[in-house]
Amino acid sequence: MRRSVLIFLLITIVILTFLLHQVSTLIALLLEDASADAIQKSELPAPNSTLLTNRPQLIPKIIHQTYINESIPAHWLPAQQACLELHKDYEYKLWTDAKSLEFIEKEYPWFATTFRNYQHPIQRADSIRYFVLAHYGGIYIDLDDGCKRRLDPLLSYNAFVRRTVPTGISNDVMGSIPQHPFFLRVVESLQGANRKWLLPYITIMASTGPLFLSVIWKKWMGEHADLQTQSQTADWKGRVRVLMPDEYSGHTWSFFEEYKGNSWHGQDAKLIFWMGKNWMLLTAAGTVIVLSVGLALWWVYGRILLLGQKRRGYVAVEPTGSPKLTATRGSSRSPRASPRKGPSLWRRLGMEGKKERYELVEHHDA
Ligand SMILES: *[C@@H]1O[C@H](CO)[C@@H](O)[C@H](O)[C@H]1NC(C)=O
Ligand SMILES: *[C@@H]1O[C@H](CO)[C@@H](O)[C@H](O)[C@H]1NC(C)=O
Repeated sequence: MRRSVLIFLLITIVILTFLLHQVSTLIALLLEDASADAIQKSELPAPNSTLLTNRPQLIPKIIHQTYINESIPAHWLPAQQACLELHKDYEYKLWTDAKSLEFIEKEYPWFATTFRNYQHPIQRADSIRYFVLAHYGGIYIDLDDGCKRRLDPLLSYNAFVRRTVPTGISNDVMGSIPQHPFFLRVVESLQGANRKWLLPYITIMASTGPLFLSVIWKKWMGEHADLQTQSQTADWKGRVRVLMPDEYSGHTWSFFEEYKGNSWHGQDAKLIFWMGKNWMLLTAAGTVIVLSVGLALWWVYGRILLLGQKRRGYVAVEPTGSPKLTATRGSSRSPRASPRKGPSLWRRLGMEGKKERYELVEHHDA
């Protein structure tokens, strides 16, 4: 193979590998069914089961919710009341904007600047829930998720999140013991993920929202893949169990019931929500972008290659299209070899006049 073709292919492969590596977690996320960590139906006693739970209760009995202030809108009051009624023995913490900021400034001052500077209020609502779970432990519940049964059976895990369909996890219902290594990782990752993307929805999703959480979750599982196959998996404190859709809502044995409205602060709520549920589409879009970038780089590289050859004085082209080669061993010159006529890489790599061109490049490089 000619040297410049080889160089071009190598550069393309390196760039494409880099880009694919960048989105590899997203692709892996798409294929992740969470079955290894799913909370099985058989593990959970029915709501009014006489089965005595003799498993240890690890997660503290605390329910966390967030809202701007104490005046919760009427359409969410039934959901909130349902949780309060069923869990009178649980501590209840409502994280208002003011309380959240106070908490971060006192307990996590290194994060206060990032927290205050988040452009979208929902980013604060997202991030505070990870901090309070990492700090106090307990169960975080979005205001639009009403409780249908007591959460006690879920307290016997070290941490759990909720699976979303078709892929990924949500941050609307999560539980954890204090200082759980996964949630510590999540709070440590917030600053690094605090980037602006083209659309506010993507910025929110990827910096603090479900996409952010899902990516860390997927990486977390990848890093501890060795534990997944060993018998100690069950005892591994870092394991994050997954509440599956049937146990989340829609059945008599489900834990939650979705209420009208949602807790995103803002008018873009519906679109953000839609995006949260359409991972597949987003990932497909990402792949298309990667491929387009790859093709664009290919094209740019072709132009640069051409420019470089011109600059070396390799071809001095007359407007008429007959090339004057400054040095060549080839004899079968063709008028069609003019770069002006065919500047694309395809033409450069074409059969016409190929021999003399690359002989020259080789001669130059030698
Ligand atoms: C469980 O018992 C409570 C109180 O007895 C009752 O209100 C509720 O409907 C029962 N739940 C189910 C799923 O049977
Ligand atoms: C709480 O926030 C809402 C929405 O911004 C506002 O309309 C309401 O007046 C606030 N209530 C209090 C008590 O500050």
